[in-house]
Amino acid sequence: MTFSRAIKIAPSILSADFADFGREIQAIEAEGADWVHVDVMDGHFVPNITFGPPAVAAFRKHVKTVMDVHIMIAPVDPYIDAFAKAGADFLTAHVEAGPHTHRTLQAIRGAGMKAGVALNPGTPAEAVEHLLDLADLVCVMTVNPGFGGQKFIDMTAKVRKLRAMIGDRPVHIEIDGGVDPVTAPLVAAAGADVLVAGSAVFKGGSVANPSAYGANIRAIRAAAEGAL
Ligand code: DX5
Ligand code: ZN
Repeated sequence: MTFSRAIKIAPSILSADFADFGREIQAIEAEGADWVHVDVMDGHFVPNITFGPPAVAAFRKHVKTVMDVHIMIAPVDPYIDAFAKAGADFLTAHVEAGPHTHRTLQAIRGAGMKAGVALNPGTPAEAVEHLLDLADLVCVMTVNPGFGGQKFIDMTAKVRKLRAMIGDRPVHIEIDGGVDPVTAPLVAAAGADVLVAGSAVFKGGSVANPSAYGANIRAIRAAAEGAL
């Protein structure tokens, strides 16, 4: 996987049909997804529960691109090896999930994955300033994590600050929450390169009608690239 700042669209399967993940993953990839974003929630760090490592391992069999696993769980460290075994390419943990994110990022890389660190909307860019040499991705949440379909919270000033802090380091900036063709250009112009989108990708489509997924992905990509 060579590093690139080209725009990547990462559909979140949180908006997929939970009874049909395999075919949903195949459909979004066939329709142009660059990465597949997998939201793990524990009902403790966030007020919702999704799925754990065994389900993620089952998704892996269908993912041909990049499996981007966003863990909204606390604690993180006891589960790192399980997500490595499940086949995560990127494993992104929250800086708010515990006191030792520095150690967590080392452990994620040590387990053979790319390491991501996510920031809630209320967390400043400076919280990750001393973690950037240990990170492959910084995820800027533009909603409070826990649910799909929420309204975008404008974090463009934070994205700009992070982009300057990152400089020449090969660290992706990912945006997660409320990304659609209207909000994508704002964050792309500020320096984001990975755009997670759940409801805006899956709306109007299904495994029986996957072309809507393709049209949605192309609309987000075109809007973002138009801002560069
Ligand atoms: C929210 C998740 C997101 C979510 C995005 O906690 O981390 O990945 O699925 O969904 P939309 O794009 O609908 O805001
Ligand atoms: Zn997410």
